[in-house]
Amino acid sequence: MTWNINGAPDQKGRIAIVTGANIGLGYDTALALAGKGCTVVLACRNPDKAQAAREQILSRYPKAHVKCQALDLSSLKSVRSFASAFSKSHKKLDLLINNAGIMMPPFSLSEDGFESQLAANYLGHFALTGLLLPLLAKTPDSRIVSLSSLAHNWGDIRFDDLHFKKGYSKRGAYGQSKLACLMFAYELNRRLRRAGIKTLSVAAHPGVAVTNLAQHFPKFLAVFFPLVGQSAASGALPTLYAALGEDIDGGDYCGPRHMRQMRGAPVKVGSNRASRDQTAAKRLWELSEELTGVRFLD
Ligand SMILES: NC(=O)c1ccc[n+]([C@@H]2O[C@H](COP(=O)([O-])OP(=O)(O)OC[C@H]3O[C@@H](n4cnc5c(N)ncnc54)[C@H](OP(=O)(O)O)[C@@H]3O)[C@@H](O)[C@H]2O)c1
Repeated sequence: MTWNINGAPDQKGRIAIVTGANIGLGYDTALALAGKGCTVVLACRNPDKAQAAREQILSRYPKAHVKCQALDLSSLKSVRSFASAFSKSHKKLDLLINNAGIMMPPFSLSEDGFESQLAANYLGHFALTGLLLPLLAKTPDSRIVSLSSLAHNWGDIRFDDLHFKKGYSKRGAYGQSKLACLMFAYELNRRLRRAGIKTLSVAAHPGVAVTNLAQHFPKFLAVFFPLVGQSAASGALPTLYAALGEDIDGGDYCGPRHMRQMRGAPVKVGSNRASRDQTAAKRLWELSEELTGVRFLD
């Protein structure tokens, strides 16, 4: 049977953080969660955009509980201050939706010296998850959802040049970051199970969804997005299924059913061999701990 947000359980009394929630898939994920009664924290780098998104959600669901809290995932300082403020002011966290992302920008390094896509898409979320884990671990039925992509097939983890200092491929760097997100989701699940923590780690991808993500795409490719892409609301469904589906298990990966996973209703999907390489996942985890200084589940 097709999973549908209408059939998902009521979320009253639960709290979710959605990163990059001011626009695109993050916004539609936050909107749907708020509509189900969940308190939603919009974790965004631009406070004005976050506030505008909050007002838009409230205009749809006037009784919704929606808060904004500043978070720039490409800054470890910002990630630490977000996690510390959230942990001080909340006793639990039911859902962490690691959604924010950028795709194929010109080369730059983050303030911590990381390639920008790896920083925002993966390393920031790695650190955020580790810092919020104590709260997630003590919350019954909590879940962490990590956004990957069909683009996890585009690259590998360049352990010899993680930050593309020897020559930048914007496509390769996006592929690497999304492969890292997927390897992380699987490795996190294995480590949670080993530690006896009941929090589930689940991965999701939207297929192709028409959002702002394609802003750096070459023009001839940008036309492809609206032709095959689904709406942001449809693209958010695999994330929502991963977060709320009652048949979801730790380590599942959710994506669209049709057109080689580019569009359609959310189902459990498979992923490539590299994403399931446990030796590489362990190496990536250890490297991520070293780079971010956030150590957990060792
Ligand atoms: N759309 C697709 O077809 C597609 C396909 C596969 C995977 N995905 C994944 O889905 C996720 C959401 O993408 P989208 O399509 O919704 O893109 P989008 O419309 O461009 O939205 C991206 C969101 O991430 C935020 N963001 C970017 N860098 C950030 C940072 N350093 N700190 C905090 N927030 C940051 C953006 O904030 P600003 O508004 O301030 O820039 C925005 O809210 C990404 O992880 C992407 O890789 C999307």
